[in-house]
Amino acid sequence: MIVVTGGAGFIGSNFVLDWCAGTDEPVVNLDKLTYAGNLANLAALEGDARHEFVRGDIGDFELVRTLLRTHRPRAVLNFAAESHVDRSIHGPGDFIQTNIVGTFQLLEAVREYWGMLEGEDKAAFRFLHVSTDEVYGSLEADDPAFRETDRYAPNSPYSASKAASDHLVRAYCHTYGLPVLTTNCSNNYGPYHFPEKLIPLCIHNALAGKPLPIYGDGRQVRDWLYVKDHCAAIRRVLEAGRVGEVYNVGGWNEKANLDVVHTLCAILDALRPRADGRSYREQIAFVTDRPGHDRRYAIDAGKLERELGWKPAETFETGIEKTVRWYLDHQDWVQGVTSGAYRDWTLRQYGA
Ligand code: NAD
Ligand code: TYD
Repeated sequence: MIVVTGGAGFIGSNFVLDWCAGTDEPVVNLDKLTYAGNLANLAALEGDARHEFVRGDIGDFELVRTLLRTHRPRAVLNFAAESHVDRSIHGPGDFIQTNIVGTFQLLEAVREYWGMLEGEDKAAFRFLHVSTDEVYGSLEADDPAFRETDRYAPNSPYSASKAASDHLVRAYCHTYGLPVLTTNCSNNYGPYHFPEKLIPLCIHNALAGKPLPIYGDGRQVRDWLYVKDHCAAIRRVLEAGRVGEVYNVGGWNEKANLDVVHTLCAILDALRPRADGRSYREQIAFVTDRPGHDRRYAIDAGKLERELGWKPAETFETGIEKTVRWYLDHQDWVQGVTSGAYRDWTLRQYGA
């Protein structure tokens, strides 16, 4: 079996759902259920014996130690993190705590567990760390896309904390021989994306008749990857990645933020036209820029394709249409998140 951390969040829950759709190998899901963790994402697995949910913190060494000894996983995949750049600007403390200290404690527990394994079990064990392209910093318009060998130059408290966690993971391999794999991925989008991030926020605000906030001039560029493609890349790296290696994961889909929002508006205009017949584009509002806003991210995912044969299945056009349709079909999920109802349930289930 495998252990996934942060499996009630956006990417982690997509990963767990796809994992269970593709194999009978059980998964234990350790998640603290911060504001970003939502068990409603995993409703399809209710009563499914292959999925066990454990509420807890990756920084809780004793809890993780017990969990590993009890379940004896063949791999631990670390998705758990504080993940929103804007929140890291307003309050970096949680980012330092979970992304750095939490990853450290998790690594310590995993190191102890791995040290107790023997023979085939020890040789086959993997720790896969899910990270971001933001650790590489910001690119100029005509710079080549990020490669695995690029220098780290994180600019936000979020990316700095992820960079620190990547360094710890690397050091545990180099120093202790822990068999680690690291993936650095570009911006994801798709089902169960918390509506504080650009794409789900704009879909939600558009339908609610609210402004679509564009930071600065909206010409910042991100590479976008459909979340299911990211999950497939992680499965492939887990299966065949070389120990100690880093793999960049991206969609070959560089888009300026304003173009992304224009695309969303066009799809919504077609699928759910405004009552007054005008375009959702009229709701676009340029707002104050994010401090230290990185201008451009771009990923060269060539290594992953050459070495492990992974390529994204979705283009931006197919993925974004699927995403908008998913949000239109799952307004109850959006309602649960935006009203905070999912938090009430967590409170009833687990207490404060
Ligand atoms: P998310 O914020 O949606 O989910 C994070 C999950 O981790 C939540 O379920 C939360 O409850 C849980 N969590 C937070 N702190 C925890 C702790 N101390 N112990 C246990 N669980 C904890 O994030 P996401 O977008 O799903 O990102 C998942 C991972 O992928 C992160 O490591 C992030 O850095 C990385 N990543 C994200 C993107 C993206 O576009 N979203 C891109 C590249 C990499
Ligand atoms: P976001 O989804 O927060 O991801 P990240 O900061 O990790 O790239 O933001 C994506 C881009 O969209 C980023 O350049 C910031 C911008 N943005 C806006 O213009 N308006 C918004 O309301 C948000 C949330 C983001």
